[in-house]
Amino acid sequence: MNTLDETNIPVTEPERQYYYIAKAKQYVAEKSAEIGRKLTFTVTTFGCQMNARDSEKLVGILEKIGYVEEADEEKADFVIYNTCTVRENANQRVYGRLGQLGHIKKIKKPHMMIGLCGCMMQEPEVVEKLKKSYRFVDLIFGTHNIYKFAELIATRFESNRMVIDIWKDTDKIVEDLPSERKFSFKSGVNIMFGCNNFCSYCIVPYVRGRERSRNPRDIIREIENLVADGVVEVMLLGQNVNSYGKNLDEPITFAQLLSEIEKIEGLERIRFMTSHPKDLSDELIDVMKDSKKICKHLHLPIQSGSSRILEKMNRRYTKEQYLALVAKIKAAVPDISLTTDIIVGFPGETEEDFLETMDVVRQVRYDSAFTFIYSKRTGTPAATMTEQIPADVIKNRFDRLLKEVQSISAEVCSVHEGTTQKALIESVNDHDTNLVTGRLSNNILVHVPGDDSLVGQIIDVDLKDCHGFYYTGTIHK
Ligand code: 5AD
Ligand code: SF4
Repeated sequence: MNTLDETNIPVTEPERQYYYIAKAKQYVAEKSAEIGRKLTFTVTTFGCQMNARDSEKLVGILEKIGYVEEADEEKADFVIYNTCTVRENANQRVYGRLGQLGHIKKIKKPHMMIGLCGCMMQEPEVVEKLKKSYRFVDLIFGTHNIYKFAELIATRFESNRMVIDIWKDTDKIVEDLPSERKFSFKSGVNIMFGCNNFCSYCIVPYVRGRERSRNPRDIIREIENLVADGVVEVMLLGQNVNSYGKNLDEPITFAQLLSEIEKIEGLERIRFMTSHPKDLSDELIDVMKDSKKICKHLHLPIQSGSSRILEKMNRRYTKEQYLALVAKIKAAVPDISLTTDIIVGFPGETEEDFLETMDVVRQVRYDSAFTFIYSKRTGTPAATMTEQIPADVIKNRFDRLLKEVQSISAEVCSVHEGTTQKALIESVNDHDTNLVTGRLSNNILVHVPGDDSLVGQIIDVDLKDCHGFYYTGTIHK
């Protein structure tokens, strides 16, 4: 029996959600009493860091309402998939795993609850397919209303039917809801949501909506609280952090925000992701140059080295402008590590266009590059472009690019051999428990002998040997 006052449900957020957290907690307690043990959950995250951060918010609410985490999906009472739809194979993976989960629910665990959220759910044809062929799913919601998770769970407990709540877009940002960090010493921090760029291949603006920046005071307060709770490194998250602040009542630039964050005492490291080259300002380069806390790493997606393809991609820079920007950054911050994203096989890409991409890779000499085969996303302008490239041609280009990227990356990473650098120790090594794994300012990993007492600490390490994209070394004495 739910004992909350149902005549007085708050209408403002986050108060309304705290009401539903209390309500869902009662339902969970009743169910636990019924089956004689605590209810368990698993949240599985697909895709990017933005989704990883959203999952922490889901976990925060689940724990608040009384669920406990269970590593094994097959054993959990509530399984959530936080989905990605940036490439078609991301969707296929979700359908594949969902099919298996449905089977387990049917033959072994009829009381299992299955929830789906994230970018894939913002596509109407996905929801149609789920409604038709995946009737066993209990809860479906999108990217704009994850803050309502507790309310949706309560609704599901009350209705006993599939609950679907998808919003097309939102201008709302709800602050101050619970979240449970995966790491005690580092955290992602959303600074903005959505994207206004409409790169012609990309589905993100359609599923994550228009750009909305958080108020700088809310961001600073969140980071101050995180630091008080033991966090030493933050990763500022946004689809295009360089356009942060433009739509606020009191506009502020990303560079200004970084300068404010730099002042937070106790915070040691600042990272951010992702930077669109067209919006990266001289002001930002200056701030990075002078900063003691901003890490020496910049992820700067190029997507293609051909100015002709970049125009078709609606990226709004040319190869020459990108290379000039890289030169400026390297001159200001000589030890910066640069990484990128590259798409191979965009419609109309010729061998000459592809060679332009290879040329950029050779000129910039990235520390690492994420290489993707172009994936046709229904609803984006590129999906209807003629001249889609045959799979075998794409594969051939992709393999050549990967080889080049890897051999350059091994050379670039090895330049630090023999140096001493600061590493934030993140974990005990999975394969060898006598080792711990740390991350250098430039984002490269290093394995050194040590134990779990070092986790969360920033220590000096001597980098002995480079093994392609990671180092082995020892703690500096
Ligand atoms: N096909 C292939 N890769 C894509 N990306 C985005 N959309 C697509 C697509 N349709 C890549 C871009 C982006 C990264 C997150 O995913 O390189 O930077
Ligand atoms: Fe997609 Fe372009 Fe926005 Fe990045 S900037 S999320 S690639 S539309």
